[in-house]
Amino acid sequence: MTKPFIVAIDGPSGAGKSTLGRRLARELGLLYIDTGAMYRAVALAAAEAGVSDTDAEGLAGVARRASIRLEGDPDSLRVFLDGRDVSAEIRGEAAGRGASVVSTVPEVRRELVRRQRELGRDGEGCVLDGRDIGTVVFPAADVKFFLTAVPEARARRRLGEERERSAGRTFEGTLADINERDRRDATRDDSPLRIADDAVVIDTTELSVEEVFQSMLRTVRDRRGGADRGGDEP
Ligand code: C5P
Repeated sequence: MTKPFIVAIDGPSGAGKSTLGRRLARELGLLYIDTGAMYRAVALAAAEAGVSDTDAEGLAGVARRASIRLEGDPDSLRVFLDGRDVSAEIRGEAAGRGASVVSTVPEVRRELVRRQRELGRDGEGCVLDGRDIGTVVFPAADVKFFLTAVPEARARRRLGEERERSAGRTFEGTLADINERDRRDATRDDSPLRIADDAVVIDTTELSVEEVFQSMLRTVRDRRGGADRGGDEP
């Protein structure tokens, strides 16, 4: 059996990880794993159980007990929490903010990283998007990307995506929220957001989705060609 082909995509929110991760997974016929959705689901479960943001032990228990399933194609991925479809709910502002907080708890991370490794090892391979994929979850990933963009561009994109869901959001509010999440992700003690030494860094500020996609696809094909030849030939 050939070893699964792993593509890691890390970077701050709004850099294009999920749009590009889905497209790459679809194009390459790989599984797509949205690790942020898992942290969001834990945040939702904690809020529903009345566990406070500051109760690390309580949050760890919620993470361990939560059944989280990701189902469907990259483009129509559904997220189930304890059997309930929470795909829409976890996209809200509250779950996003909650995820940014619960993800600072080491026991929560340990539990979700363990599950992400299990999911990733299954099958032919996968594209995972998150903050610590290339540094912690799969440090030996076949290809690592770090997508970034200036905060103003990321805030503009996020506002566009959230317009239907959160009427009344302003650019300034979204930018402040992005800056706050960046700060929390970059400064937490456990698995802070950082660029893996061997990651391909792409600043998407001035690039179209298509340009970034083609560049990522070329990189993956180069590596995959090499990996396939190395793995399959006698
Ligand atoms: O990517 P998304 O915005 O859905 O992630 C929600 C939050 O979960 C992020 O702001 C980040 O704090 C956290 N996260 C993380 N590690 C991951 C994925 C997400 O800490 N691998």
